[in-house]
Amino acid sequence: MRVVGLSAEDDFEGWRDAARALAAARVPPSEIVWQVGDQPVDLFGDEAVPQSTAHPFRVPRAFLDLAQAVILHSDPQRFALLYTLLAGLIEQPKRIEDRADPLVRRLEEKAKAVHRDIHKMRAFVRFREIEDDSGARYVAWFEPEHHIVRANARFFADRFANMRWSILTPELSIHWDGAALAEGPGATKAEAPAGDPIEDVWKTYYASIFNPARLKTGAMLKEMPRKYWKNMPETALVKELVAGARQRETAMVQTARTAMGGNIAGAWEKLRDEAMGCTRCHLYRHASQTVFGEGPVDARMMFVGEQPGDQEDLAGHPFVGPAGQMFNRAIAEAGIERAGVYVTNAVKHFKFEQRGKRRIHSKPDAGEISACRWWYEQERLLIRPEMTVALGATAARQILGKAATITAMRGRALELAEGGLGWVTIHPSFLLRMPDRERAAEEYAMFVEDLKGAAKTLSS
Ligand code: URA
Repeated sequence: MRVVGLSAEDDFEGWRDAARALAAARVPPSEIVWQVGDQPVDLFGDEAVPQSTAHPFRVPRAFLDLAQAVILHSDPQRFALLYTLLAGLIEQPKRIEDRADPLVRRLEEKAKAVHRDIHKMRAFVRFREIEDDSGARYVAWFEPEHHIVRANARFFADRFANMRWSILTPELSIHWDGAALAEGPGATKAEAPAGDPIEDVWKTYYASIFNPARLKTGAMLKEMPRKYWKNMPETALVKELVAGARQRETAMVQTARTAMGGNIAGAWEKLRDEAMGCTRCHLYRHASQTVFGEGPVDARMMFVGEQPGDQEDLAGHPFVGPAGQMFNRAIAEAGIERAGVYVTNAVKHFKFEQRGKRRIHSKPDAGEISACRWWYEQERLLIRPEMTVALGATAARQILGKAATITAMRGRALELAEGGLGWVTIHPSFLLRMPDRERAAEEYAMFVEDLKGAAKTLSS
């Protein structure tokens, strides 16, 4: 019997190196015992992992990807199951593609469960604010089903780069000091703080996006299993919100806004700073910076564009390039003062294709729009605009939460699910792209009419 000792539950490298050597020596799966940590090993004999790689072999990339996820599963059999498949792949490399193979299926199910758990941790971790010697620190409690915490740590470090935080879990704790990640021992729920100001922000956020008319309990439970409810401040609101109507909801939002200390401008600045480190989708990798919304936090009107263009990306401000100039001219003609409105984009990073020295605008896809919805919702929560004007189809999708045709929607007030009115019109860059000057002038006049309509509805 060979006994392989792995350093931790998620020790993928340890498993991979041992498995590679054992498989090269053609050691059958039945002769290996996999152990984690410092349990006694002498029960099983003393044959070591072979050092030589007598019969080298190649492993399909798909297997390594699968193994990397499955290693994080909580099933103690996972190491042996993976090794069994690895041994089988030496004879039959194509087996990994056989979806009907019971072992491949079983391992794929495990990989899926791990990915779901990773997603849940990202979606449901909630920080509570505490004070320590160095100031504010944010601490969260989370109970994962699988060994995913270490693998997920980098995500939180990128996402909350500007905060000092700790995530406590039964198996291990991770800490971020603003520069480096550190690990500590597991904790108990009692060690995590309960109830404090950041919960108000979450509750406000949740209450502001909650729409009783749209509540689908089944879907909600699927996304937010009961296991997690007890850790989440907003779940305390669910019963109340279901029972109450919009009036109640609005009152709660007002209360929670006041709980932020009434400092909406401060909260907005914090939000913008946080957005500067956004990695919610891949677009941050090539863009110069996040281009956040701008304007007074008490603006009654919000304009939503598509995404920053080349010039906005460099300047860090929305609507300052050619489309921005067209926008400024049209709103001025419609009697709207730019300094009095809040201007933002559905997607906050510039998406482009590099062609030689030029960066050519590329349309954001549904996934990118949806990843960026977080920031749009947070902006709405703070600004609470009475009228939100979507410029073009991408913005319309963001404000309505679904795909929309401009021609079918334009020029009339629409009730928005989160409150306030919406208004859909064209994007000013549409006018810039029109080769026919006469048609462009007609379209421009219609654009100005749409803007006037929105302003008039707001003041009526
Ligand atoms: N187009 C947009 O949609 N937004 C900008 O900020 C600039 C151009």
